Amino acid sequence: MLRSLFLAAAGSARLERLVESAPVSRGVVRRFVAGGGAEEALVTARELADDGLAVSLDHLGVVTGSLERAQAVRDEYVALLARLRATGLTPAAEVSVKLSALGQRLDEKVAFEHARAICAAAAEAGTTVTFDAEEHTTTDAVLETVLDLRRDFPSTGAVLQAQLRRTEGDCRELSTAGSRVRLCKGAYAEPESVAFPSPLDVDKSYVRCLNVLMSGAGYPMVATHDPRLIAIAEDRARWFDRSTGEYEFQMLHGVRPEEQARLAAGGHTVRVYLPYGTQWYGYLMRRLAESPAAVAFAAKAVSSRK
Ligand code: FDA
Repeated sequence: MLRSLFLAAAGSARLERLVESAPVSRGVVRRFVAGGGAEEALVTARELADDGLAVSLDHLGVVTGSLERAQAVRDEYVALLARLRATGLTPAAEVSVKLSALGQRLDEKVAFEHARAICAAAAEAGTTVTFDAEEHTTTDAVLETVLDLRRDFPSTGAVLQAQLRRTEGDCRELSTAGSRVRLCKGAYAEPESVAFPSPLDVDKSYVRCLNVLMSGAGYPMVATHDPRLIAIAEDRARWFDRSTGEYEFQMLHGVRPEEQARLAAGGHTVRVYLPYGTQWYGYLMRRLAESPAAVAFAAKAVSSRK
């Protein structure tokens, strides 16, 4: 119920204007978002790297209304990658990219060329790119793009969402040697025809997908904060004889930092997904949708200003 409310809010332009201009939003945003620009993101990335955590930086952006904006997003990533290299943050830091922010819904070819330019800049900087998963209507296009890009940039990462019924099959197809696959539950409101409606069924799907990825030839990136799924992933890694360098855990900035530290102290690679940018509204609503703890945090921030 709460989840659907926040996911519906994520798509409301009116609410977006209201929340973005409310002073109280800033404190809540700061917990989940590194800052408005690359400078602040680099500072946070450095702090995380100093704590022994890997990072994936995400420049927040909504679907772009024009190809000019898509080009600006490409330029932002290319410049960011150069700075990550110059500040010695690669290879510990990589980037996460949404194809929609590169204009995929406006012109697939242009978006592909932008994605290529970002992959080339990442290769030059000695690091990798992972393409985020978005609404199910884009899954085929995103996965095809990743497979195309892998011809020249084999380490390009894909993201699969356990909530989608198709995902176990996608895991099988993507479990090839060297294939970097991030498995998450899925953050979008999807129809029952394509997605499991019950959280328990999503969790069961996540475990089936984990089994496929951990027993396969690729590099699984286990993206969850769910204690049960983390324990199952550790168990499967042992069962399938994977050493700690042959998979990684991933979590969002600001979510369960103590668990991130615990896993890293245990010798695991832990990558923190670190968003930055001014267009944080949709991202924040998706975070509030998935966690009573995050809503409680937001409510506390609001009430403490009264
Ligand atoms: P879930 O939200 O069900 O939470 C399970 C448990 O985790 C909770 O019961 C609680 O114990 C703990 N928990 C969760 N959030 C907490 C909080 N804020 N504070 C304290 N405890 C908390 N989605 C997508 O559609 N496309 C994508 O490309 C990505 N990319 C991505 C990258 C990374 C690195 C991560 C971690 C996640 C994504 N996601 C994503 C988001 C993902 O699909 C999902 O919405 C969130 O990770 C939340 O799902 P969980 O697996 O954490 O479980």
